Amino acid sequence: MAYAAFRSIGAYVPSKILTNDDLSKMVDTTDEWISKRTGIKERHIAEENETTSDLGVEAAKLAIQRSGIDKSEIDLVICATISPDYFCMPSTATIISKKLELNPVMAFDISAACTGFVYILGIAKAFIESGMKKNVLIIGAEKLSAITDYTDRGTCILFGDGAGAAIISATQNKDEAIIDVHTGADGTYADLLMTPNGGTGSPHDNLEAEAGTCFMQMKGNETFKVAVRTLTKDVKEILQANDIKSDDVKHFIPHQANYRIIKAVGDALKMKEEQVVLTVAKYGNTSGASIPMAVNDIYEQGKLKLGDLMLFDAFGGGLTWGSALIPFSPLK
Ligand code: UT7
Repeated sequence: MAYAAFRSIGAYVPSKILTNDDLSKMVDTTDEWISKRTGIKERHIAEENETTSDLGVEAAKLAIQRSGIDKSEIDLVICATISPDYFCMPSTATIISKKLELNPVMAFDISAACTGFVYILGIAKAFIESGMKKNVLIIGAEKLSAITDYTDRGTCILFGDGAGAAIISATQNKDEAIIDVHTGADGTYADLLMTPNGGTGSPHDNLEAEAGTCFMQMKGNETFKVAVRTLTKDVKEILQANDIKSDDVKHFIPHQANYRIIKAVGDALKMKEEQVVLTVAKYGNTSGASIPMAVNDIYEQGKLKLGDLMLFDAFGGGLTWGSALIPFSPLK
């Protein structure tokens, strides 16, 4: 039987920085409020002419280069995004494939908001274990600044742009294998986090006249409470199902939405400070890109070593959630 191994990681962060002080000149907020309530100090913002696929391409190039496989060996490309280059089609994954000059292989996007990267990890694992694919490029890429309302202080302080990518490859060695991926969704809470307009649920007569109504809206405080509850439960379940203790986890890499959420979940799970990976202060919430960007950070700091057990935990619009247990299994 083929198993799925997490071979490599890459990320891209646009150079332009939007600080809390910058935001305090745009909406009624302060650095003190944002820092205290979210832990965010700054976020990166893509250039106007930079698209989500541009961010994804840069992350993917690094992931491919670090994987030890040739790009001609990639046989599936999946992109998780809620800020695609184009509203319906073509998918951002196909554009990334074209820009990377990959073979004309299967490529598609998925929409699972901040849980997107965990979802595509699960999909890649399933394709590999079924024997259908051997080398899957997965990308979480977001230009959230394009769908953020910079007059709404409840949301605009949170979000940033960026991308992360990984190569997931077939292996016969069970020690290298992704151990488990758990995912779930509950549409009962659909209205907590949404872009309410622009789709068939609320069609527009004139998109241009209603510009601005396709932005993200969030019931922040309610989302916060459901997030803490769901993220904690999710991790307890995946650890228990695989008979793994939280002490066995080398890197706990939660979705970077808010430091207070991460702290509450980490404490509830009795994670030690050195286990918890934190990037929220410098990137803010980059939705589907946040987990791979955080993995890339520890990789580039030399902290992510062969065999290290990673635990991902994500939560987002839908509502969606997911967790995954993954040994880092580079080829070189
Ligand atoms: O990634 C997907 C999932 N997303 C999340 O997990 C995000 C979850 N939510 C959050 O992170 C937090 O709820 C927020 C950071 C969005 C808000 O923090 P909060 O502690 O839940 O604040 P709140 O919404 O309860 O608002 C408290 C007060 C309100 O004023 P009043 O009604 O008490 O006078 C808000 O109007 O803070 C006010 N407020 C602000 N004040 C200064 C809200 N946003 C701001 C702001 N600056 N940016």
